[in-house]
Amino acid sequence: MFNLVLFGPPGSGKGTQSENIVKTYDLRHISTGDLLRDEVSRNTALGVEAKKYMNQGMLVPDEVVIGMISSKIDGSADARGFVFDGFPRTRTQAEALDKLLEFKNTEIHLVLSLEVPENDLIARLVNRGVTSGRSDDTEEVITARIKEYHLKTEPVARYYNEHGKLERIAGHLPVAETFKTLAKNINKYLLPVT
Ligand code: AP5
Repeated sequence: MFNLVLFGPPGSGKGTQSENIVKTYDLRHISTGDLLRDEVSRNTALGVEAKKYMNQGMLVPDEVVIGMISSKIDGSADARGFVFDGFPRTRTQAEALDKLLEFKNTEIHLVLSLEVPENDLIARLVNRGVTSGRSDDTEEVITARIKEYHLKTEPVARYYNEHGKLERIAGHLPVAETFKTLAKNINKYLLPVT
């Protein structure tokens, strides 16, 4: 099993590159943002609670997200591995993920951190907001999301760096070029299936 964390601030390309990685390496994609938006769209109790945080650009409480991830991992016993996109976002989440994977006799092998200048992030997300229908793609909420990233999520990069698992990737280049660099790093662990 090979487990990858695709890390980076809002708009750095985690979702875009996850799609390419999942297809190329036959991995299972777990995006907490997508899972939460699905709960919101189905108006579940979890979704109603999560929406309050998401609409303000704040992180949803750890226990909610960790519970969601746990059941997703349990439901994918036959997977070749996972791409975690937008998770973990706090040190508590990172430690919980380590425990969940240890229980399955596996671990996080690699963390690829997409590095993109802040002006580019804002421009990408404002631009996406025109068509996405995402209620958190407004300039005010984007600024709050980036602030939350610096405050709570950046320490997760330090956590993985201490464990020798972090690689920083230039994410400001076109999608295909960035993917080539990501693939070069993944190929050290896993061969492409396509
Ligand atoms: P989430 O859905 O995870 O959003 P995010 O991390 O804020 O960022 P995005 O998904 O919007 O950006 P991305 O990095 O995936 O970039 P993308 O590929 O889409 O989280 C949303 C909310 O849910 C959070 O604010 C929080 O409330 C909650 N949440 C989620 N996970 C949580 C957790 N673990 N704990 C607590 N709360 C959680 O690209 C963005 C745009 O740029 C697209 O239009 C794309 O086409 C474009 N683009 C991509 N790459 C390039 C490129 N190389 N060049 C030019 N344009 C590009």
